[in-house]
Amino acid sequence: MHLYGTQSINENGHLTIGGVDAVDLAAQYGTPLFVYDIALFRERAQAFQKTFENEQVGYQVAYASKAFSGIAIYQVAAQEGLSLDVVSGGELYTAIQSGFPKEKIHFHGNNKSQAEIDMAFDEEIGCIVVDNFHEIDLLKKTAEQRQQKMNILLRVTPGIEAHTHDYITTGQEDSKFGFDLNNGQADRAFMETYAHEQLELIGLHCHIGSQIFETAAFQMASEKLLLKMAGWKQDHSYTCSVLNLGGGFGIRYTEEDAPLEPAVYVKDMIRTVKTASEGAGFPVPEIWIEPGRSLIGDAGTTLYTIGSTKDVPDTRRYAAVDGGMSDNIRPALYGAKYSSLLANRAQEQAEQVYTIAGKCCESGDKLIEEAQLPEVSAGDILAVFCTGAYGYSMASNYNRITRPAVVFVEEGKHQLVIRRESFEDLIKNEVGYVQEEAKP
Ligand SMILES: Cc1ncc(COP(=O)(O)O)c(C=O)c1O
Repeated sequence: MHLYGTQSINENGHLTIGGVDAVDLAAQYGTPLFVYDIALFRERAQAFQKTFENEQVGYQVAYASKAFSGIAIYQVAAQEGLSLDVVSGGELYTAIQSGFPKEKIHFHGNNKSQAEIDMAFDEEIGCIVVDNFHEIDLLKKTAEQRQQKMNILLRVTPGIEAHTHDYITTGQEDSKFGFDLNNGQADRAFMETYAHEQLELIGLHCHIGSQIFETAAFQMASEKLLLKMAGWKQDHSYTCSVLNLGGGFGIRYTEEDAPLEPAVYVKDMIRTVKTASEGAGFPVPEIWIEPGRSLIGDAGTTLYTIGSTKDVPDTRRYAAVDGGMSDNIRPALYGAKYSSLLANRAQEQAEQVYTIAGKCCESGDKLIEEAQLPEVSAGDILAVFCTGAYGYSMASNYNRITRPAVVFVEEGKHQLVIRRESFEDLIKNEVGYVQEEAKP
């Protein structure tokens, strides 16, 4: 059995997280419940940042907050000195409300609206990561009208796509994001922005994939971007000061996953960037990364209560929980795998195999295909590990199921940071329909 971060098993045979009994948490706050091990989030944040400091390069580690956004986690991210990647007006609004330092906010997105761009200018955020030519037009117009400066990075697609242990290089990458590095789009975007009076082009950005377990793809991507930077330096005497290599560092969802330590990913990147910039004769740029999953993924555990069970003879045994694809869409969306444990009987032999079903009206609403557990009964508390990233943030009200509560645990203390939605919340924006009387 693999436990994460501060998790352990106490004398009652219960799972504990952050020194708090998970069974007590389920009883106090109800289930489904997202429990975040904040010490683990802090440890991950510090590990990334320390590696940059040891290597003595300029850096920013931006938390890719699409993984799990909210006021409380933004507050912890700020305490840890992280920067913040937001991708919508809603995430930006939440960050501002949390008091996050505005100058450390990076705004992403492939279809930012004028209202979102205005908000970024109003709040004087750190930078906008520019995705396309339409956005360049909007930004120029906005900056000129306001006579206001804004730092920008160009998001480029380097033609490298990485996922887990595989990566491929493609000539023309088919992606909805960014300017293609190989077909002239990136050069055109550069020409349209680098000399602009208000737009301050500070560097390049790329994000090559998710759940990546090796460093070669990051190295290739950084080499390609640095080559482009070297070309612009030679042709236009322009020096990029920032190279943002995105996120995508893998985590251990199940025993099939073997992630590297944060330090390994980062050290390899730094080495490549240093060598390539020295070769090209320009100063080593600041290196920015934006991990989401690798900062928050394994810090999150979801607690569910088991209800019904069903045997399909000679085929499988189902155990159903009180949540499902409404709080974790990843298994249904892309076959994501998870591991689990009975939190109230954590030391018992796991000699049965169950398919963990959700409660949504979809046959595909299965959280785990093959969960190794003791014989389960109604009322058992199931802990599903590594649900911290893209779980709550992708949750929905499908079937009018209310979103779970979120609790932070740290050093034996627990704190509710997001309340469970109520049925009243479900209809709070509804105004009903009044049928007009038929005209005579
Ligand atoms: C631009 C960008 N940066 C960072 C991330 C975070 O990726 P991960 O959570 O895999 O680290 C994503 C994820 O989709 C992304 O699109």
